[in-house]
Amino acid sequence: MVTIYDVARHAGVSAATVSRVLNGHTQVDPALAERVTSSVAELGYRRNAVARNLRRSRTTLWAVIISDVENPFFTAMVRGVEDIALAEGYSVVLCNSDENPEKESNYIAAALTEQMAGVIISPSSNRVDDVKLLLDAGCPVVVIDRELQGPRTDTVLVDNEHGAELATTHLVEQGYRRIACIGGPRWLSTATSRHDGYKRALATAGLPLDPALVRFADFRERGGYEAMASLLDDGAAPDALFAANNLMTVGALECLVQRQQAIPSDIAVVGFDSIPWADLIRPTLTTVAQPAYEVGRQAGQLLTRRLTKPDADVTRIVLPTELQVRASSIRQA
Ligand code: RIB
Repeated sequence: MVTIYDVARHAGVSAATVSRVLNGHTQVDPALAERVTSSVAELGYRRNAVARNLRRSRTTLWAVIISDVENPFFTAMVRGVEDIALAEGYSVVLCNSDENPEKESNYIAAALTEQMAGVIISPSSNRVDDVKLLLDAGCPVVVIDRELQGPRTDTVLVDNEHGAELATTHLVEQGYRRIACIGGPRWLSTATSRHDGYKRALATAGLPLDPALVRFADFRERGGYEAMASLLDDGAAPDALFAANNLMTVGALECLVQRQQAIPSDIAVVGFDSIPWADLIRPTLTTVAQPAYEVGRQAGQLLTRRLTKPDADVTRIVLPTELQVRASSIRQA
């Protein structure tokens, strides 16, 4: 049987594009739409009406589309979703977009094609077309962690800006004056919010915002390492660092250890995310903890409610972060 994926491969487009063309969405580039239409005809693709009818009642599957399966924040968050899903009689299908919008589109197409009961997604970009496809098809969506501008959906976030502001203010209060920031990709709301918190704290303290002390990376370990190396090699001479997520904090620490930089006497460090080994390393690591499991649990509850009450008010939940001060940021006498 010819599938939507066969059509996508034959036309050289994503499965999500095929789905948009088949659902009559007008935003698709006419040339792409033509390729899809030709491939549908050439391959003899027919939506399987029988299968569709059999699946008219949605499955008991939830698609959870996360941005990085290697990041412990997301796996802790998925556990929170799963505990609610199983309690409510659903199963979870884990999809890793790898911060790649094309991969994300394909997983959304799969959720549509397989008639999944609902989708929980941490967006890897600001593209909203694919999420709109789900909503137009009557598939409930809960957005977690990164905010999407556009479709009104149930959303669960944490107070990223306040957490970053607390971290940076703490460093100022400890007496540090050349505070560097390693941020995430600027098209993601968690990156921009945390960077805004860093800037707000400097402004409140009357400290200048020095671009030489700021780097933007990819929320991953290698990116954190390279950003830290750049700060050191470019002579920015920071006396403190705020790294805006767990994996970039690890990368920055690796670089500091290799460069034999003493923490905190040469450079103080504050990370972001709950980091289970923060108490095990020396010096212990100051970090802004975010409740990953609770983010997932609340998202699971919102999806359950949406499935039983489709017309319920759209809900936006913002959970608090917590600055956990440890030795890596305490100025030594
Ligand atoms: O490390 C995970 C956290 O950093 C999440 O908030 C994710 O969005 C990334 O920003």
